[in-house]
Amino acid sequence: MRDFQPNTIIEPFRIRSVEPLRFTTFEERDQALRRAGYNPFLLHADEVLIDLLTDSGTGAMSSRQWAGMIASDESYAGATSFYKFEAAVRDITGFKHVLPTHQGRAAEHILFTTIARPSHVIPNNTHFDTTRAHVEHAGAEAVDLVIDAGHHPRLIHPFKGNMDLDALASVIRETGPDRIPAIMLTVTNNSGGGQPVSMANIRAVSDLAHRHGIPFFLDACRFAENAWFIKTREPGYADKAPLDIAREMFSYADGCTMSAKKDGMANIGGFLALNDDALAAQCRGLEILTEGFPTYGGMAGYDLEAIAQGLYEALDPHYLHYRIRSIAYLGDKLVAAGVPIVQPTGGHAVYLDAREMLPHIPPLQYPGWALNNALYLLGGVRGVEIGTVMFGLRPDGSEGPAAMDLVRLAFPRRVYTQSHVDYLVEVILEVYARRERLPGYRIVWQSPTLRHFTARLEPLSES
Ligand code: F0G
Repeated sequence: MRDFQPNTIIEPFRIRSVEPLRFTTFEERDQALRRAGYNPFLLHADEVLIDLLTDSGTGAMSSRQWAGMIASDESYAGATSFYKFEAAVRDITGFKHVLPTHQGRAAEHILFTTIARPSHVIPNNTHFDTTRAHVEHAGAEAVDLVIDAGHHPRLIHPFKGNMDLDALASVIRETGPDRIPAIMLTVTNNSGGGQPVSMANIRAVSDLAHRHGIPFFLDACRFAENAWFIKTREPGYADKAPLDIAREMFSYADGCTMSAKKDGMANIGGFLALNDDALAAQCRGLEILTEGFPTYGGMAGYDLEAIAQGLYEALDPHYLHYRIRSIAYLGDKLVAAGVPIVQPTGGHAVYLDAREMLPHIPPLQYPGWALNNALYLLGGVRGVEIGTVMFGLRPDGSEGPAAMDLVRLAFPRRVYTQSHVDYLVEVILEVYARRERLPGYRIVWQSPTLRHFTARLEPLSES
């Protein structure tokens, strides 16, 4: 007998603890959506059947993670759980100083409060919302420099999250290195469709930064998914383990911010890790003020245990193969049916192109919002609009279209199975078939900042 290679990629786990789904009728969802001011953020989670609002903190933990949590050390200072966490982060990232934080944005807060000042500029491929907000809160300017391919939803490119190196060189020249306290790369590029950054690009950005004496940081939330894309798409990496690829990615950087709610496989947590002794000492001072003593930083000992284990599980090749394939599986079915999506599919989500799908709804009548609400009404599916409701309100109170009107369907890690995805395909195709009849929306109430979280809307016509 010879070995054989099956083609079916299976979920690399079996399920020992289950959480029932709650089914609702169309009428119940219609009522729920009205009550929520047609804003899916204001739904109760048990009114949602398949919840793809985010992949952040929504994953399932493994039996090994739970075992670690039970055995955690909850000492205020010097807990063994901290040293386990620190050892795991150091082993994977190679960074000398590890500062735990309660989630990713807390690491951003500590870093940018410490290094950024008014008149400073921080380049990134694309800043995530909270990263941009912390840069701006420190008075600095956040500049997005993703390559041009990153702006075209249908253009196929293996590393659409790459930084535009010429644009970065120009920004350094025009701004002057003294006013650039850090250059950042977000891996994968969440706001740009979950698209990866190549090792060559990470290395080139690092070289450029260091030639000008500028520190280089990774926003590493989805570092393991990025490592898998490098393994499968970049020449020379096919035979390398994701752990080694991740180590190489981090080796070019001086530090990173991390939300462990993504590739930390945990429900909460994060860290700031870096090599510079003086900067680490400054950051620790602020950490004590805002997060807690540096051996727990806003987390319980059991959270530190979950992350110490989760970081390695995220790098398991069987897990990553299944993870990236399950997103592509949905994307392939949608593309085959003609549904416009951001291509190629990214690491953690499928992004539907609502502006393309709903040309009868102008951006200021929020096609992404309309599409997301239709997915909920017809199938109990909740995604998130990444479009004009989220980005269209300017600081002066005026409104304009966002660059794109997308709906992100982000997959919690190890939570849904293939039949959930098949169901999802059916729902999306049904909405697609009815697309010409979907109504636009108008906002009836909004807050002046981050309006999408709390806005109340109504459909422009009942369908
Ligand atoms: N950076 C990136 C690239 C992110 O995607 C997120 C969170 C953060 C930083 C902040 O981390 O939530 O732990 O404070 N993204 C979530 C999402 C919220 O839905 O994409 P956090």
